[in-house]
Amino acid sequence: MLRDAGRARAGRYPVGAGHPVPPPGKSLTRACGAGMEGSVRPQGERLQLLLRRCREAKACAYCPYSRFPVGAALLTAGGEIFSGCNVENACYSLGVCAERTAIQKAISEGHTRFRAMAIASDMGTEFIVPCGACRQVMREFGKDWDVYLTKPDGTYIVKKLDELLPLSFGPEDLKKA
Ligand code: THU
Repeated sequence: MLRDAGRARAGRYPVGAGHPVPPPGKSLTRACGAGMEGSVRPQGERLQLLLRRCREAKACAYCPYSRFPVGAALLTAGGEIFSGCNVENACYSLGVCAERTAIQKAISEGHTRFRAMAIASDMGTEFIVPCGACRQVMREFGKDWDVYLTKPDGTYIVKKLDELLPLSFGPEDLKKA
């Protein structure tokens, strides 16, 4: 069954309240190169857990310079969740975003296929969005996975990585020259 890839979905994630917008079931499964998942969108308790884990990770953010804590939670194809926070440094340019922390944790433990990532910040008026560098790092592992952009009030929207980084360059392009 085709899902409505490309269309944002909105919702809330109060614990125990369930998913207000029923996500579609399966997406296209296609051979898409290393890391490309294109599988079932997380639902129900698994999604609630993913959303909770990104909020919890935010509490660990080391951000004394920006004072802008961010948390991310990454769901692998196998159903495991790796979380991460932003980790800043007195040498400012060495700081790393929450999204990349989560990806590096997962990769370094042998996981390269991902289904979804959820991101949390303290911004009350905007859904947190990943920076361009993180979008490119995420794209390394496929472009058919879901990114949940949240607000502290529990609302969220979900976007395909392909929407966040259209016309992207990835590992398979290296084989085309
Ligand atoms: N940051 C993230 O960790 N993820 C985002 O999606 C946006 C920005 C971090 C980087 C830096 O530590 C702080 O937020 C301010 O830019």
